[in-house]
Amino acid sequence: MPKRLYARSLIIVIAPMILLQSVVAFVFMERHWQTVTQRLSTAVTRDIAAIIDLIETYPDERGKQNAVRIAQERLSLRVDIMPPDPLPAPGPKPFFSILDQILSAEITSQINRPFWIDTVGNSNVVEIRIQLDEQVLRVFARRSQAYASNTHIFLLWMGGTSLVLIIIAVLFLRNQIRPIQQLAEAAESFGKGRPTPEDFRPRGAEEVRRAGLAFLQMRERIERQIEQRTAMLTGVSHDLRTILTRFRLQLAVSGGKTDVAALDNDIEDMQSMLEGYLSFARGEALEDTGRINLETLFAKLTEEAKLRGRTLTVQLSGDPEVHVRPTAFSRLVTNLVGNSFRYAKSVHITAIHGPGSLIVTVDDDGPGIPAQEREHVFRPFVRLDEARNQDSGGTGLGLSIARDIARSHGGDITLDDSPLGGLRCVVRVPA
Ligand SMILES: Nc1ncnc2c1ncn2[C@@H]1O[C@H](COP(=O)(O)OP(=O)(O)OP(=O)(O)O)[C@@H](O)[C@H]1O
Ligand SMILES: [Mg+2]
Repeated sequence: MPKRLYARSLIIVIAPMILLQSVVAFVFMERHWQTVTQRLSTAVTRDIAAIIDLIETYPDERGKQNAVRIAQERLSLRVDIMPPDPLPAPGPKPFFSILDQILSAEITSQINRPFWIDTVGNSNVVEIRIQLDEQVLRVFARRSQAYASNTHIFLLWMGGTSLVLIIIAVLFLRNQIRPIQQLAEAAESFGKGRPTPEDFRPRGAEEVRRAGLAFLQMRERIERQIEQRTAMLTGVSHDLRTILTRFRLQLAVSGGKTDVAALDNDIEDMQSMLEGYLSFARGEALEDTGRINLETLFAKLTEEAKLRGRTLTVQLSGDPEVHVRPTAFSRLVTNLVGNSFRYAKSVHITAIHGPGSLIVTVDDDGPGIPAQEREHVFRPFVRLDEARNQDSGGTGLGLSIARDIARSHGGDITLDDSPLGGLRCVVRVPA
């Protein structure tokens, strides 16, 4: 069996056709063709036998002439009466000589005299010579008189229609198989980590289309999952680094007398972060939405500002309880405020919680970000001006994490000039 689907389906279509036609052709040859030829030959032989009877009944010259005329006019046979020379030697038999066989058998059984036939020589005419007692009878019959000669038309029709059928099958199959090949190529390139072909879309028969659609959905799900895991991992690592920085600051500030309560809090934060990540890695759903109290969050940030020697002022209007994904949202705000702590001296947060929406604005008096860079800094690992950065640990992930979180809440972050002279980050999320 061939390996390729195309070849296999062609065989599935063509093999039964050939088989069917062979059977039909065989039955036709065997039954119809042979029977008809048999009947025609019988009739011709019968006519010849009648002529012989006539000649033998009236052996005078007039009788013979009448017999020849009757044969010519009524039976379409050209009859010559020749002197009784011996018959010529039997000619070569044609290879596929059903006529020869049947005619010979008929003459033998109906007339039973020595005879000689030639079915090969002149293609339209059959010559028969029969040895009578006192003469030799030579008969020319039209071939079609003794032989079912329309077979080639039948074979032509059969061959022609099968050719048309095969062409249709080839065209049709090619169209049906192309979508399968495209699906195979797309799956293969995805499996090898290459981009799937641009123009790939589910096509073809319903089952193939379903497989294509399933492939696209699978690819999307896998990509989304990888993306989510990466986002989660970077988020957690970023947070851990922030907390470790805080540890170091606390240790430096306390000068040996460790603030156990603050460290405890940090450790608790780290633990809940890691647990969140582990549950995600185990395949549990992303963090559910829950309630977070903005006052508590801002109090923590104020603590940190104190540690870092920055000033933080907060202005909150509306309900401090907001409905968001708690860990993610506090990560978002912490990243923005953390940036401001790093690049500026004083920071101001304005939070407006209206019906259905929350707008948090973080202003600082740092160097800001030039307008043309404001989209660029959201890219992962992008950091402006390495030299101006005093806190050397930055990786350039903070803003990209923050924007992902805002967008996953259905909101966004924009950057602007701050009235304080530095950068203004505005977070708008539905809450
Ligand atoms: N408040 C700000 N004032 C001035 N420049 C800022 C401010 N916030 C961010 N930037 C600039 O945008 C860049 C990207 O910030 P992002 O938070 O993504 O990275 P990072 O703070 O350098 O590193 P990480 O947050 O990963 O520790 C920073 O390198 C900095 O140059
Ligand atoms: Mg940052």
